[in-house]
Amino acid sequence: MEIIIQPDSQQASQIAARIIARLVREKPHSVLGFATGNTPLQLYQNLVAVHGDTGLDFSDVTSFNLDEYIGIPPAHPSSFHSYMWAHLFSHINMPKERINIPDGLAGDIPAACRKYEQAIRTAGGIDVQVLGLGTNGHIGFNEPSSSLSSRTRIKTLADDSRLSAGPGFGGQENVPTHVITMGLGTIMDAKMCLLLAFGKKKAAAVAKMVEGPVTAMVPGSVLQMHPRAVIILDKDAAAELKMAYYYNWVHDHKPDWQKY
Ligand code: GLP
Repeated sequence: MEIIIQPDSQQASQIAARIIARLVREKPHSVLGFATGNTPLQLYQNLVAVHGDTGLDFSDVTSFNLDEYIGIPPAHPSSFHSYMWAHLFSHINMPKERINIPDGLAGDIPAACRKYEQAIRTAGGIDVQVLGLGTNGHIGFNEPSSSLSSRTRIKTLADDSRLSAGPGFGGQENVPTHVITMGLGTIMDAKMCLLLAFGKKKAAAVAKMVEGPVTAMVPGSVLQMHPRAVIILDKDAAAELKMAYYYNWVHDHKPDWQKY
């Protein structure tokens, strides 16, 4: 794992945006994996700005989102469809037919999940998977106890995930109980995993994910097994890391060819 600690979420998100922008320039047919939540918002704002300022071209890029609620229409204001169109897709030139988000209204959920996995394979696999981190250590919606080799499937939300999603649904009781999420095995197939985490409330989960044992109880810890996992944090989210001095030393002494 590469751990990058920045003074604040804006500077952290700029590094993530540079990584993705460089990939899209070098490989116009890139395949990007996207996440939702508050954490990646500044990253998407940066990508929209780079697209506007430099004409960064997304016309040949394909994207796959991590997850979506089951039982709500894409037009629902709290759907991840609505989130992605509001914060990214409506501001860049990625063709609609290249955008993939799990279908929360699919009649045959297992078939829809198999189809999603096949679409990722047909696209050549995900080059960079953007990830956030739940306070319970989940990535995507792989709640604690998720199989470390799980694939895209239906998943039951943990109470704390429904609690944090509550404001968007007028209360926890209205939050869907099930989602479709890429699995941990699906996420691990990405060529690079790019996880962002900000703020004090993520510090405990970050410390377990980075420096704790690999365990299904902290699904994000599976990234310790990934050959190219880049974890970008603000200083508050990094507050409980024991080896922060080493991660900063590594970052400050990167050879030029490794710099972002
Ligand atoms: C949800 C999403 C995750 C996201 C997490 C954290 O559970 N399914 O992909 O990482 O929330 O959200 P936030 O960034 O708002 O803390």
